[in-house]
Amino acid sequence: MIESRLLAKKYKHMIEIETKYAFPCRESVKNRIVMSPMNTCQSNADGRLSDEDIAWFERRISGNFGMVVTGSAFVDHAGKICEGQIGIDSDIHIQGLSILAQKARENKCMAILQLSHGGLSGLNYLVETRSLLPNSNNFGGIDLRMLADLSDLEIEDVMDSFVLSALRAEKAGLAGIELQAADGYLIQQFLSTTTNFRKDKWGEA
Ligand SMILES: Cc1cc2nc3c(=O)[nH]c(=O)nc-3n(C[C@H](O)[C@H](O)[C@H](O)COP(=O)(O)O)c2cc1C
Repeated sequence: MIESRLLAKKYKHMIEIETKYAFPCRESVKNRIVMSPMNTCQSNADGRLSDEDIAWFERRISGNFGMVVTGSAFVDHAGKICEGQIGIDSDIHIQGLSILAQKARENKCMAILQLSHGGLSGLNYLVETRSLLPNSNNFGGIDLRMLADLSDLEIEDVMDSFVLSALRAEKAGLAGIELQAADGYLIQQFLSTTTNFRKDKWGEA
């Protein structure tokens, strides 16, 4: 008897894994099982979800995950980090993502879109106009001055692209968004003293 009580205490988290969890915003998730974001590089060249993407998510969504998070989706073409990455930089992505959202709802699963900007680690050759991307090599091919040289307007533009992307995710009917603030990409580049030498409000000041 004592032993079973001790075991129940020890494995409390295992029991809770099957229970519902309510977020402060009152949305709730049916269990604590979350598929973490994984970029599978199988989207169409322009970032729209491919049939393979839909099939891949469908298998996970129907596999009793309470929540699935997509791999990182680029909020701006200049911030794309690899070929086959999911895009959310324009309205063309809404239709494919709404299929994913619908399939998730049918399975009472929360589908979350991860928003990302590669910043200095974006694909160099995909640069179009203004760029947050490298052209010399101080940091694995990255020119750290680029981050320091960005104007207020350029930074605000990137912030806008995150906001617009979040609104597109909402339009598609997804349950929420996640910001990719790790893995050496733009948000982490701003957060890290290894890459952010700015002295203004975007840096240490
Ligand atoms: C193939 C692959 C792709 C990944 N893509 C992303 C991604 O797009 N965004 C992200 O935040 N993490 C990404 N990750 C990190 C995972 O979400 C996870 O945090 C990491 O694999 C650690 O968990 P684990 O120890 O269970 O593998 C990726 C991991 C793998 C293996």
